Amino acid sequence: MKSKASAPGKVILFGEHFVVYGIKAVLCAINKRITVTAEKVDGDKISIRSNIGSLELGSNKSISEIDSPLKPFYYLADKMIRNQNTGISIKVESDIPLGVGLGSSSACCVAGAAAISRLFRDTTKKEILEMAIEAEKTIFENTSGADCTVCTYGGIMEYDKRNGFTKIESNPDFHLVIANSNIEHSTKSIVARVREFKEKNEDEFSRLCDNESRLVEDVLKLLKINSVKELGEKITENQKYLETIGVSNNKLRDMIQVGQKTSFGAKITGAGGGGCIFALTDTTNLDQTMMGFQSNNYDCFSVKIDFKGLDTF
Ligand code: PMV
Repeated sequence: MKSKASAPGKVILFGEHFVVYGIKAVLCAINKRITVTAEKVDGDKISIRSNIGSLELGSNKSISEIDSPLKPFYYLADKMIRNQNTGISIKVESDIPLGVGLGSSSACCVAGAAAISRLFRDTTKKEILEMAIEAEKTIFENTSGADCTVCTYGGIMEYDKRNGFTKIESNPDFHLVIANSNIEHSTKSIVARVREFKEKNEDEFSRLCDNESRLVEDVLKLLKINSVKELGEKITENQKYLETIGVSNNKLRDMIQVGQKTSFGAKITGAGGGGCIFALTDTTNLDQTMMGFQSNNYDCFSVKIDFKGLDTF
């Protein structure tokens, strides 16, 4: 028997970095997915195949000794086959670029938890989310769980440290053009760089947090009425704050400028330092914005919000 599941990637629309200091962030799932197929096999081996390599190990290995980005899958499979007298074979297929802040690892954990657990029993989305966050902690110890949550439920979500997640009940109809700098980023070191900025510029940072907080409150109203043009202005405004705290660089700045020429607004998504930016468009300026990036030789693709979240087959 085979069990198959897929989960979407995500972008942070607003609030990255400031969310670490208690400000609300807004995330949305995007219609690019990771699909995981799991199958019971004879023996006790766990084997994982993906486009970033493969991993094959016997059961019961210590997670801390495994040095592979595929270890969340091993963690999930190993847990499920305890006392079960079976091995597991796992295949991972992705249309989300990896390691550039688009939630590929969370989508892997969510789709992996669903595909693997459903070989043994029926599971609810809530249980799958809990397993996925546990698995993600094997690679990002301090994950807030925000990415896995939006990958599981889809749509748009607000998140802050104190109140957790709230799904935003609105169906805005915009397109995002995502441009990839192809520079891998380390979220941890950029978060540390922002902390340094904060420590050296306490007053300025506190003002920026107030501004970001007000901006996100405005955004929540604009999302409800699908006011794309005004949302674009907020995106461009948010980018100014990200520039100030030092998470941009020349390449990202150039990409953002290219995007801002034709779209409603463009900004970094995620940690910055590399990774991706996005530009907000609708059908009137989508093609032009895509062409703008392409003619400057930037990798880009367009996405819409994914409202489905985790899907099982
Ligand atoms: O890892 P990324 O690129 O999706 O971004 C992480 C978001 C930050 O706000 C920078 C860090 C965090 O823990 O929220």
